[in-house]
Amino acid sequence: MPVILGIESSCDETSASICADGKILSNVIANQTIHEAYGGVVPELASRVHQQNIVPAVQQSIVNAKISKNDIDAVAFTRGPGLLGSLLVGVSFAKAFALARNLPLIEVNHMQAHVLAHFIDEPKPSFPFLCLTVSGGHTQIVLVKDYFNMEIVGQTNDDAAGEALDKTSKILGLPYPGGPMIDKYARIGNPNAYQFPEPQIPGLDFSFSGLKTAILYFIRDNTRLNPNFVQDNIADICASVEKRIVTILLNKLKKAAQQYDVKDVALAGGVSANTGLRNGLKVLGEEMAWNTFIPQFQYCTDNAAMIAIAGYYKYLKGDFVGQDTAPLARMPF
Ligand code: KG4
Ligand code: ZN
Repeated sequence: MPVILGIESSCDETSASICADGKILSNVIANQTIHEAYGGVVPELASRVHQQNIVPAVQQSIVNAKISKNDIDAVAFTRGPGLLGSLLVGVSFAKAFALARNLPLIEVNHMQAHVLAHFIDEPKPSFPFLCLTVSGGHTQIVLVKDYFNMEIVGQTNDDAAGEALDKTSKILGLPYPGGPMIDKYARIGNPNAYQFPEPQIPGLDFSFSGLKTAILYFIRDNTRLNPNFVQDNIADICASVEKRIVTILLNKLKKAAQQYDVKDVALAGGVSANTGLRNGLKVLGEEMAWNTFIPQFQYCTDNAAMIAIAGYYKYLKGDFVGQDTAPLARMPF
């Protein structure tokens, strides 16, 4: 019954989790509010706050799991991709903890971990399944053949979907992080109030930079006519932008499921916390007779439970790394 300590620090959340025999016993997430004043994550500040948060987060994860640190059998950590200074804090902590207690170390790819969040709760998807992984830095359609055998069959050529949401919210003058704010306003707006273009990208790839420019010009032109245009129409703008982003994502997912003849379809990553996307997948899933899978809210955005569960499956394979393992800002599957 292996007990795994999972550590996540790739961006601006410091998180620690305990997983015992494939069950998550705790998942502590320390959010960093310092970035709100800057409208985006400041890498140097993120790294410093990780240093302050990492020890209390790990301590709390052990307390919440009602175990002792002597019970821990291995330490799993996010090696990449992410901000190097942020990753360095988690990687250094994991190495020090493992060295001090003579424990094996397990490296985890953050993007694979978002997919493996589906193995935390029941029901679990069956292999092969498709996973649309949408976060602040990535937009990928992943064909998941096995726990660690994943193929990216479609991805963004420029901005990620989360980035498009965050940049739109910045244009609208909403506070950071933008995705949840757009979600909030979209719930009370008319999604058909404004039409934004759907990019014509061949195959299963995405592009969001043209959409971002279209939104920028739309706001600029309308604000010239009515200086209060954004304030007067914030809910309708958010609902219309969200609807376009969701249809872009789901149209490609539908195409991928047909191309690969897959019936189990999943959502992962921070943007999968979006209400419009979650509802959209459910509706499309019923229409296409898919089995759809969406992780619990707390396992969508960055968290260490997904690192701990990925670590658990690697532990079963005996897949360990040495103390010489360095973080990677870019890390292929
Ligand atoms: O996976 P994640 O927590 O961090 C990265 O690895 O990037 O994803 C963060 C992204 C941000 O772009 C954030 O705005 C978006 O997820 N996000 C949302 C919602 N919650 C988080 N986007 C739309 N609706 C939400 N409710
Ligand atoms: Zn993430």
